[in-house]
Amino acid sequence: MKILAIETSCDETAVAIIETSKSEHDRVRVLSHIVSSQAQIHSAYGGVFPAVAKREHARTLVPILEKSLREADLSKNAAKNERMANDRQSPPSNPNTSHATTTPLPIYSQILENLRIDYDREKEMWNMLFEFLPQMEQPQIDAIAVTKGPGLEPALWVGINFARFLASFFNLPLLPINHMEGHIAAASAKSDSHGILLADISYPAIALLVSGGHTELILSKKEGEYKIIGETQDDAAGEAFDKVARLLGLPYPGGPEISRLAKSARKMNKDSGTEQNPKLPRPMLHSNDFKFSFSGLKTAVLYSIQKESPLSPERKARYAMKFEDAVTEVLISKTFKAVEKHRAKTLLLSGGVAANEHLRLSFLETAAEFGDFEFVPAGPAMATDNALMIAIAAYKKFELVGNKSYIDPSHLRADGNLRVGE
Ligand code: KG4
Ligand code: ZN
Repeated sequence: MKILAIETSCDETAVAIIETSKSEHDRVRVLSHIVSSQAQIHSAYGGVFPAVAKREHARTLVPILEKSLREADLSKNAAKNERMANDRQSPPSNPNTSHATTTPLPIYSQILENLRIDYDREKEMWNMLFEFLPQMEQPQIDAIAVTKGPGLEPALWVGINFARFLASFFNLPLLPINHMEGHIAAASAKSDSHGILLADISYPAIALLVSGGHTELILSKKEGEYKIIGETQDDAAGEAFDKVARLLGLPYPGGPEISRLAKSARKMNKDSGTEQNPKLPRPMLHSNDFKFSFSGLKTAVLYSIQKESPLSPERKARYAMKFEDAVTEVLISKTFKAVEKHRAKTLLLSGGVAANEHLRLSFLETAAEFGDFEFVPAGPAMATDNALMIAIAAYKKFELVGNKSYIDPSHLRADGNLRVGE
């Protein structure tokens, strides 16, 4: 089975193609895995700007799709392409398919109309697609997966409309995927020399998802069943990293920057980790639940640096380290309490913040103290947003519920607040 997946929930435009086989259910071949980050563009705004994210997705999707199909060897040679184009009665030379067009060919506009897609909103993207489609034949793909939510709704819609159109045009099944289930799937995907091996998860399992938009502890009693048992009351962990980075004058996205500075501080002064200065709070550490809060921690950093600005590079690095320590301590404490309470056999860790080296090492150390228990973190490259995780989540869903995982393209809507288990 070949699945093409599209992810546009935030500021990465991503397309992936995987191939699975009936004989080896736990193996995935990655035919293509492309992530185009808009981080540099958003950096000027100090965070993700939804209207810009949407525009960039629309600009990037067609070129990435083309590249992805080429990488997966699913786009055929020119001669064949031309035959296809003729079969479809939409010759590539038709001036109607050029970028400048204002009315798409009837075969395209009919689909847009059926799906109630407003061509004018993403005109540039549709024109690029309509110029590309006659050059390709029916791709050897069995299904299209796309992120339905959660995320920035304007950004999600671009990917969703794109996927709805492709599914309708090529008459392929469409699978809507929850972005957070994608992050969970990313944790179970282990790369080896043959591709990806999907870890066999023992249940009950706890997943900690820490990203720019979410901090969630999820209990899973069996495959495909999820219950959020705790989440942040205000800022997400990644958001806190980004905001504190901004306070320290570091560019967006702040997580990798803080991580880098904190690492240098740890190297500079090995014993500084135990020194209290600056003393930062551990919000909700002792609350008797699995709720998180990171907004107070950010404010504590703000007040503290106000008293000593301007900060020297060494002090900045120290703040980065102390902030990283505070976030890590809270996440570890709550997560392992959840592991104990629910007698979890597996702990999955994923989401952009899970790329943080200090956090990963600290989780590894703590997990090692638990016997008869498996810690399954997403690899650093798989922890941040990508479409491979969406493709894998789609495959898992299909394996679990078969055709029930499909949705009629005309029914799919973006849901910025989609939650797992609902
Ligand atoms: O999962 P993700 O790529 O996108 C969302 O779904 O939000 O997560 C992005 C978040 C950003 O807040 C970014 O600063 C953070 O993950 N992040 C990190 C690191 N790499 C990315 N935070 C801490 N340390 C990192 N190395
Ligand atoms: Zn994410």
